Amino acid sequence: MKLKDMWGKKIDVMQHYDNLADIYDAQYGGEQRAKIEAALEKLEFKSKSLVLDLGCGTGLLFEYVCGKADFLIGVDISKKLLGKAKEKKVNYCLGNVELVLADADHLPFIEKIFNFVFAVTLLQNMPFPLRTIAEMKRVSKKGCFLVITGLKKKFDAEGFISMLRASKLRTEFFIDEEELKDYVAVCSVI
Ligand SMILES: C[S@@+](CC[C@H](N)C(=O)[O-])C[C@H]1O[C@@H](n2cnc3c(N)ncnc32)[C@H](O)[C@@H]1O
Repeated sequence: MKLKDMWGKKIDVMQHYDNLADIYDAQYGGEQRAKIEAALEKLEFKSKSLVLDLGCGTGLLFEYVCGKADFLIGVDISKKLLGKAKEKKVNYCLGNVELVLADADHLPFIEKIFNFVFAVTLLQNMPFPLRTIAEMKRVSKKGCFLVITGLKKKFDAEGFISMLRASKLRTEFFIDEEELKDYVAVCSVI
């Protein structure tokens, strides 16, 4: 894929999500919360945890994690969805949340700093999901947990598992429940 096409695709995705900003929570909040809750059942937060929510959208994860982690950084390419996430930060006084407008393949962070990285229903938007996972790994500390979900409409279970294997992540839990629209993988960095 040419560089121009890749950025063109990302700009289309950005505009698509910008257009959904006002209805996102009402339309998708329920299904996204179900995925988040399935993953969180498998995780334990220790003190001094730094969390990255990649493709954070409107910040649905915040209410679950902000009380448990020291600090959460939400990254998204859609300015309008980040605006909705900012409303949650302000309305719920989430002082330990910071929001960053950035592309998931080019994160403005140094290496090995996060204890938890979430990418909930992000990868179907990415031109090269393996590259995105590599960027998630770059900013992850050793022993970091990565929650990576794969939209079933886009990935089949076998392909999704092979992608995780190719990324050299250890899959600790793989959740494939009928009522969830994504596979939910909880992986660790080895
Ligand atoms: C299906 S939504 C999921 C949002 C959120 N994780 C949730 O569970 O509600 C996908 C999100 O990925 C974001 N996204 C898409 N491409 C991205 C990119 N290249 N870099 C960062 N975020 C991106 C979108 O703007 C959108 O917020």
